[in-house]
Amino acid sequence: MSTPRVLSGIQPTADSFHLGNYLGALRQWVALQDDHEAFYCVVDLHAITVEQAPELLRRRTKLATAQLLAMGVDPERSALFVQSHVREHSELAWILSCITGFGEAGRMTQFKDKSTKQGSAATSVGLFTYPILQAADILLYTPSPGEHAPPFQVPVGEDQRQHLELTRTLAQRFNHRYGDTFVVPEAYILKNTAKITDLQEPTAKMSKSASSPAGIVDVMEAPGPLRKKFMRAVTDTGTEIKADLEGKPGITNLLAIMAALDHSNVPELEQRYAGQGYGQLKKDLAELVMDTFTPIRERTEALLADDRQLEAILAQGAGKARGVAAQTMEVVRDRVGFLGRAG
Ligand code: TYM
Repeated sequence: MSTPRVLSGIQPTADSFHLGNYLGALRQWVALQDDHEAFYCVVDLHAITVEQAPELLRRRTKLATAQLLAMGVDPERSALFVQSHVREHSELAWILSCITGFGEAGRMTQFKDKSTKQGSAATSVGLFTYPILQAADILLYTPSPGEHAPPFQVPVGEDQRQHLELTRTLAQRFNHRYGDTFVVPEAYILKNTAKITDLQEPTAKMSKSASSPAGIVDVMEAPGPLRKKFMRAVTDTGTEIKADLEGKPGITNLLAIMAALDHSNVPELEQRYAGQGYGQLKKDLAELVMDTFTPIRERTEALLADDRQLEAILAQGAGKARGVAAQTMEVVRDRVGFLGRAG
């Protein structure tokens, strides 16, 4: 069996990644490169499903790349690339859109939420077909299918589960219609960090588009504001430090974050903080998050100072990715019945 593969992507639509991105997905990206062939992309084609200022998009694409490198994505071991640099993503997305039902796409909850919020006049067709492009991102990097196919995983947070289900359905449908082409990918979602919630609204997902600034903790955040956000995090009126998703969603979220960062677990933390107030937990957690994010922020800033190096890393990543994507597309075009081009 060949080496297992992973693929994942992240949008360059903010001036920083946040704690939810980090714990829900990016930390797993870094860990998985040790024993997987990894493909990680900054998804700029997805970003333009809502309007982006061109210069800002360019800057944020570089910033996203620098943050990923600073977190430990290693360009020697993984293919780190920008989605629009590999044209095959758009091509496969078109083909997959032709085997996706209109109703099926309309059932995607992220689309329903976003389009309801924006109103139909402001909602692009690109936003509607967004999950199909995501399926293409993934399936382009399929290992060879068959009896000895290695695992093929996609590290993401809980909010991407439905898109992964659609990807699996499309892979199976394509295989059924045209012959075995894709390994059906699996979502790689870690239960304890699958949904990090908003510090001000602890039942809602921490989200760059929906959270208030006080509810979201950025990787690039300066220490002062970061500490303040944790100290002001919404908790219930009780005093006991105990996880209880229904009754104490705020404390439960803080405990989950702490357990993930100091590699302990929630029962252990409940014991450690028995008899202490919420203030102590918040203070310790702010320190822990700062210890994690400060070196990442500093490395990101250093990487951003060297444009040439970033461009070279992305060119190398695109080269590696294109090699695999081109091979997959050759098979796909043939299976679908497109006439081969001579010469
Ligand atoms: P994006 O850019 O919104 O988020 C990047 C990753 O962060 C995870 N995440 C969270 N995890 C836990 N708690 C949270 N509060 C939280 N917020 C975000 C997301 O689940 C995601 O893993 N559609 C994708 C990008 C994408 C993609 C792909 C992912 C495009 N192509 C192919 C995987 C494979 C997205 O918008 O992620």
